[in-house]
Amino acid sequence: MRHDDAAATADGCFPRLDLPAYQCQVQPVLAKNCAMAGCHGTLDAQTRPFQVFARARQRNNEVIMYDRANAGCLQTGIVAININDVGTGTASCNAKARLSNNEWAINFDSARAWAIGTTTPDTSELLTQPLVGSSFAHAGIKLWNTGSADYAVVRRWLDGGTDVANCNNSTNN
Ligand code: HEM
Repeated sequence: MRHDDAAATADGCFPRLDLPAYQCQVQPVLAKNCAMAGCHGTLDAQTRPFQVFARARQRNNEVIMYDRANAGCLQTGIVAININDVGTGTASCNAKARLSNNEWAINFDSARAWAIGTTTPDTSELLTQPLVGSSFAHAGIKLWNTGSADYAVVRRWLDGGTDVANCNNSTNN
């Protein structure tokens, strides 16, 4: 699927890229490389339009119902927690909370927004901002080149790649 304006209009203003492939392949790459606090782990989409929520990094400012027993916490029972207040920047039990539907929606849209108006994935800032040798300063942070495995994962998704078979999605959400 080419991400052109016709496809964009069918899904609001966003290109119709594959959500399962994002959840299974792209999220781990962005969580590992981009989601740090002070980088793209942020609640402030005005200053940092590319946002990534991830476990043990930045979490969304929302209240979720959290089943602590399932997370192997010392305490048991389902409690209401603000996942940003108690789950951001920590490896505590609360940090194990799965990404909420809101967090997935924000991550997915924030990433695929960088495909809008591109004719090939290689011109997307999602690839070119942290690309060695690109024209973007990116605060001096250059994390991959076109031969990198992580670059290939994100490029395949931006190019309309769908989920691979038997992708174990339970570890990412
Ligand atoms: C592969 C991982 C990363 C990707 C895909 C990525 C992508 C992007 C994109 C698309 C932008 C433009 C939109 C925006 O300003 O939010 C951007 C800008 C920026 N990113 Fe990243 N980034 C990554 C990693 C990082 C890391 C680790 C840091 C911090 C250490 C960082 C810091 C910044 C800063 C400061 C800007 C603004 C640069 C400017 O105004 O010229 N990024 N990045």
